[in-house]
Amino acid sequence: MSVRVVIAALALALLPLAGPSLAQASDSAEKAKAVTEEDGKHLDAEGNPTYKIENGTVDWYTFSGYRRYHSDCHVCHGPDGTGSSYAPALVNSLKTMDYATFLSIVAEGRKNVGGGKENVMPAFGDNKNVYCYMDDLYVYLRARADGAAPRGRPPKKSDKPQAAKDAEASCMGG
Ligand code: HEC
Repeated sequence: MSVRVVIAALALALLPLAGPSLAQASDSAEKAKAVTEEDGKHLDAEGNPTYKIENGTVDWYTFSGYRRYHSDCHVCHGPDGTGSSYAPALVNSLKTMDYATFLSIVAEGRKNVGGGKENVMPAFGDNKNVYCYMDDLYVYLRARADGAAPRGRPPKKSDKPQAAKDAEASCMGG
């Protein structure tokens, strides 16, 4: 049994002990709690990528997501995920949207035609500058949605893990 599975099992086993008050507070921030780490990448109890922010220092992926967001999404979704008249505030969307849904919308795009207005979310499935950094974008927006990351450039960040360098080289190069 891997460490990740053991920790996930433990987290599930402990949940009922905490009683209803914690169950009520099990909002998005609770779900996003980092329980395992692999080479600087944090995972929640369900094994989905998440952020880790301690004393104002963000993990590398959250920082990277901040940068990628502001190069490829900000023009429509507004600074720091706060939304615009054209596209929704992702700080709200990510409060409830799960990882798989996020991935598929960003990869495939979406079109909303109504009220004489056509708003288009482009498909980024063939854009390496986006799809090589999907998890980074997801964890950054998740941190914003939970109120864990403040607006603006995170002032302190962890070093870039070797795993991130390797994944980037193979994704961008391949
Ligand atoms: C050209 C403008 C544009 C860009 C650039 C853009 N989006 Fe969007 N996005 C939209 C619009 C418009 C919608 C709403 C579409 C709809 O209503 O179906 C949307 C919807 C979404 C949604 C679904 C939100 C919800 O609440 O349902 C996600 C997630 C999303 N975008 C993520 C991203 C990410 C991540 C990036 C950057 C990689 C990005 N978008 C870049 C225009 C854009």
